[in-house]
Amino acid sequence: MMCISGYSKMKLLALIALCAITSAHDITQLKVPLYADPRRAAELSCHFQMNDQKLHSVKWYRDMNEIFRYNPSQKPSIRLFNVTGIMVQGGECQTDSCMVRVMPPPIATGAAYTCEVSTEGPKFQIARKSKHMTVVAMPDGDPVIIGAPKVLKPGEQIFLNCTSDYSLPSADINWYIDDELQKPEAWQRTEQSGPQPGGLRRSWRVLRVRVPPNASGAMRVRCEAILSVEPPVVRDANIIITIHSRTQLSKYVSNNAGTKLDVNVVSLVIIWTVKQISRFMSL
Ligand SMILES: *[C@@H]1O[C@H](CO)[C@@H](O)[C@H](O)[C@H]1NC(C)=O
Ligand SMILES: *[C@@H]1O[C@H](CO)[C@@H](O)[C@H](O)[C@H]1NC(C)=O
Ligand SMILES: *[C@@H]1O[C@H](CO)[C@@H](O)[C@H](O)[C@H]1NC(C)=O
Repeated sequence: MMCISGYSKMKLLALIALCAITSAHDITQLKVPLYADPRRAAELSCHFQMNDQKLHSVKWYRDMNEIFRYNPSQKPSIRLFNVTGIMVQGGECQTDSCMVRVMPPPIATGAAYTCEVSTEGPKFQIARKSKHMTVVAMPDGDPVIIGAPKVLKPGEQIFLNCTSDYSLPSADINWYIDDELQKPEAWQRTEQSGPQPGGLRRSWRVLRVRVPPNASGAMRVRCEAILSVEPPVVRDANIIITIHSRTQLSKYVSNNAGTKLDVNVVSLVIIWTVKQISRFMSL
């Protein structure tokens, strides 16, 4: 008795498993790019297997809105929705896949794209998968710092301007001097250029640099352009400004022993030496 009941239980499980394998249709692959460039159409594809079920329809949704429908028994078999907002440019289907081309809106937003495959009636079973796509245009180049002299004297003040390359969303600019973040003064906020096609903009921010009266050596200035997307995209530019002062000269020269000397330093050393000699002579 026990043996028979155990056997029939196993048989039942096997039957259920078999049923699940033969009856379930499935989305095997959903290809949605993580980032979409607002200047060109993105291609999304949905691959499915019907496992002896009959295909009724394939639908694509952007968030909750239907944008594409494939219905093989209807004429035309493909219908696009919301084409006016240049959202859906087109699409095509094979027996086991549907591809759709969407033009992302030129604003930095994200949306979930869902593919939904349903079987014929009376059951109309549904398989569904979603992936998120964010509209991002990466900057092609690093930011550029303008207005930087090679050499500064202690006590001097200059203005630097850092401009990022075109991107969407537009970049935020951060300045660092010797790895220390420079808090923007009220009039030094990040500003933006007008939009390019696709909504891309450049950003720029001015930094006032005041060299302390007792400063010496060199100052490392870094400008960082950050796109606040997930994960954040960072590009940067670095410059080194040398600070020259007479009083620091002997230290500067000894620190640089063995490395090449700049003509200015050499001539200053000569003047200084001549002064010392003349002072010595006058004693
Ligand atoms: C078209 O898009 C608008 C806004 O995005 C939405 O309200 C509407 O339901 C969409 N139409 C269809 C057929 O999905
Ligand atoms: C900074 O540079 C950008 C572009 O390079 C320019 O449009 C902007 O006017 C500059 N700002 C200042 C204050 O010089
Ligand atoms: C410059 O002087 C300030 C005080 O006036 C001091 O805190 C700082 O450490 C000095 N920096 C250097 C590089 O000597």
